[in-house]
Amino acid sequence: MTDNEKDAQRSLAQDDAALDTSVAASRFSATERLHDGTSILIRAIRPDDKERLAEHARGLSPESIYHRFMSFKRNLSEEDLRKFTELDFAQHVGLVATLTEDGREHIEGVGRYIRTSDRRAEVALSVVDQLQRHGIAPLLLSHLSRIARHQGIVEFEANVMADNVHMLNVLAASGFKTHSEYDSGVVHVIVRIDNGA
Ligand SMILES: CC(C)(COP(=O)(O)OP(=O)(O)OC[C@H]1O[C@@H](n2cnc3c(N)ncnc32)[C@H](O)[C@@H]1OP(=O)(O)O)[C@@H](O)C(=O)NCCC(=O)NCCS
Repeated sequence: MTDNEKDAQRSLAQDDAALDTSVAASRFSATERLHDGTSILIRAIRPDDKERLAEHARGLSPESIYHRFMSFKRNLSEEDLRKFTELDFAQHVGLVATLTEDGREHIEGVGRYIRTSDRRAEVALSVVDQLQRHGIAPLLLSHLSRIARHQGIVEFEANVMADNVHMLNVLAASGFKTHSEYDSGVVHVIVRIDNGA
């Protein structure tokens, strides 16, 4: 085999490995418990989650929407719903935390990361106001970081509004090393996910 052929084979093997991790991420599912003992499903987001995701957005208060999107937009457009549910699970990975009531599944929390470079991704979380402070965000962050490590990501970054103490606390309490920089009302937090937690 020539060197070029060996290189081609190596790169195919790398593609296969990347495909394996994205297929595994797109099938992710785990059952967890909230602080009050309620059982909650954490699973990969799917294209058929669009209506559930729209409902999730309606369960966010104006303050939560502002903290998540840094704007007051109330409804997600068709394009937003497509972009947020039809993921490749390589560049963009998304998990939802769901509860099922009377046979209907509701998305209570969403966590996602989007790669910003080979080793880094921007992470964002949202939890419906009614179920905030029950431990959903830490569960999403923990599973996202595990998936990210499998994909070679070593750092999460998050742009958090300076008054968003809950998100800053979630990151600070994650058990990972963090580094924060403040700029014009926004805290840019780097989270080293390849150590601790
Ligand atoms: C930030 C956010 C994702 C946190 O999600 P969460 O699931 O509520 O996170 P937690 O359950 O860890 O709760 C956070 C707070 O509740 C506290 N808490 C958690 N469980 C608790 C319990 N059983 N009893 C009392 N307090 C509890 C945590 O200590 C933490 O409090 P603190 O911020 O005063 O330290 C959520 O508030 C949210 O969606 N906010 C709007 C969107 C947003 O800001 N996203 C981040 C953009 S990057």
